[in-house]
Amino acid sequence: MSSHHAALCLHPRPSELSLNAFIDHYGDIYEHSPWVAQAAWEAGLTSAHDAPDTLADLMGLQLQQARSGQQISVIQAHPDLAGKAALAGELTQDSTSEQAGAGLDQCSPEEFARFEALNASYKEKFGFPFVIAVKGLDRHAILQAFAERLDNDAATERRTAIEQIIRIARLRLRARAEQKA
Ligand code: GUN
Repeated sequence: MSSHHAALCLHPRPSELSLNAFIDHYGDIYEHSPWVAQAAWEAGLTSAHDAPDTLADLMGLQLQQARSGQQISVIQAHPDLAGKAALAGELTQDSTSEQAGAGLDQCSPEEFARFEALNASYKEKFGFPFVIAVKGLDRHAILQAFAERLDNDAATERRTAIEQIIRIARLRLRARAEQKA
């Protein structure tokens, strides 16, 4: 099993790439937000960043340090969970496999209706879509977290969404390193 390798490495190695090549390969780690990859490259990549978790830390830092308007744009770049774009097959490859991995493509009509109602309430309250790292969660756990997070205040929820997005990016980088190992 590849997970036994201590020093799992990304390919191509981020530290060996020009800015343009880095954006070509890693610009999609943050959903529709290649500026995060650009900021990480400009911060300076070393061979340490060829490891997925080290690159994830650096990319996450760029988002944490961004202005609140930029953070909100990244949240808004995410599709609804079990939403119409998912049903229509319009998601990015990563979003498609994440949502399917949590069984969201298998919702009953009642569950789709529940997601639709929660997605609408959440966006009405916060002005951006509900984002959660779904790996390891099933539909029940996602719906429970969804209902709980609707009770948060706006500042808490923006911080929570950013933390979840940084986790999604880390999981995407780990998955890519494991693919090529
Ligand atoms: N969590 C993991 N992937 C996604 C996604 O595509 N959209 C939302 N809202 N949350 C996610």
